[in-house]
Amino acid sequence: MRVLNNVLVTGGSGFIGTNFIRFLFNREQGVSGDGFQDKAPEAEFSGRVINLDSLSYAGNPANLSDIEAEYGGKRYFFIKGGIGDSGLLDSLFGDYGVDTVVHFAAESHVDRSILGPRVFIETNVLGTFNLLEAARKHWKDRSETRFHQISTDEVYGSLEESGAFTEDTAYAPRSPYSASKAAGDHLVYSYFHTYGLPVTLSNCSNNYGPFQFPEKFIPLMIQNILEGKALPVYGDGKNIRDWVHVYDHNRAVYLVLTCGKTGEKYNIGGENEWENRTLLDAIIKTVSQKAGREEASVRAAITYVKDRPGHDRRYAINCGKIKRELGWKRIMNFEAGLEQTVDWYLANQNWVKTIQSGEYLRWIENNYGSR
Ligand code: NAD
Ligand code: DAU
Repeated sequence: MRVLNNVLVTGGSGFIGTNFIRFLFNREQGVSGDGFQDKAPEAEFSGRVINLDSLSYAGNPANLSDIEAEYGGKRYFFIKGGIGDSGLLDSLFGDYGVDTVVHFAAESHVDRSILGPRVFIETNVLGTFNLLEAARKHWKDRSETRFHQISTDEVYGSLEESGAFTEDTAYAPRSPYSASKAAGDHLVYSYFHTYGLPVTLSNCSNNYGPFQFPEKFIPLMIQNILEGKALPVYGDGKNIRDWVHVYDHNRAVYLVLTCGKTGEKYNIGGENEWENRTLLDAIIKTVSQKAGREEASVRAAITYVKDRPGHDRRYAINCGKIKRELGWKRIMNFEAGLEQTVDWYLANQNWVKTIQSGEYLRWIENNYGSR
């Protein structure tokens, strides 16, 4: 089992990166149901985390203020900066003796990639390239290093009614977002084959949980219900996504980092497919109960809107390999996870309001008009 010493986490102030760092320092939020019963990682992780985040609209360093207060300058280092800055990457690898990279930083929202693809290419392709170059330069004479690329099931394209993506499914990305992620993945592989860089990749399905930016389906719907706004469902609402709790995703990433084989990729998913319209029903039920709203009037706010261009119909992940080879299994059941997520948003309305008053709102207004 690899020991993680000096871990460069890119995009650690975003949704999944925040949860990953909290996971490493054993700070995940409590959960009801059958969640969080496995062994805490704190006993195993005694290293340092260097969080490099440019703080795009989606990054919020306050997500980690408790970690900063306890470990800042000792085991946790926040660096505001971008993966576009090769000079900065060079000095970080040197100054901190980085031996592990967990590369979350990305432009992550499909709708945004349709409206403005350029930054997706800059960050997800060129940024990944810069990071690979820094690792190649600094890890020439080092062993026990690892570059882990966080990727998505969207690189595989879209499924019909049956079947699931395996690690052997050919890449067929269909949005500027997924194409940029696919390009990043290909570069990562190429550095393994060409330069022998010790890489691993993971392709995960849709995540949900605390700290997710309220532009994504689940937190957007929770928030719109709370604010009495319309609930916009794209197209016929029958598109299918496979939802996995961010905690289960991060447990899988940790396993790959410590036990995965270099040059390998691992699919991660919830084996938990929902049509968007049915998922929205479940969200409405949960939020209405917890926030004391009348379900029927919330339901009346469902609004079928123009479909997302090129909207992928269905994603489903076959995660047999990571289960078989690394012993991973999902521990969060979806009902408990959804409840925990709704509870978190109810208890953290200040977090949401702060985000809504910032860059996010201006961007939405410039591109969409007000919702
Ligand atoms: P997010 O948008 O919430 O966070 C992205 C983070 O990256 C932000 O903190 C942002 O400030 C930072 N960032 C953006 N550009 C940067 C740059 N140039 N340099 C440094 N930092 C930069 O995204 P997320 O949902 O947490 O996704 C994290 C990763 O996981 C992404 O690579 C995404 O493709 C992948 N992924 C996401 C999901 C999902 O359901 N959210 C599923 C599978 C894979
Ligand atoms: O599958 C993994 C991917 O999941 C990640 O790689 C992406 O980073 C992440 O954003 C997510 O992409 P999706 O496009 O699937 O997520 P999103 O939350 O945007 O949408 C989920 C589904 O809900 C999708 O079918 C589109 C639909 N939708 C979304 C929004 C925001 C709506 O119907 N209405 C909405 O307002």
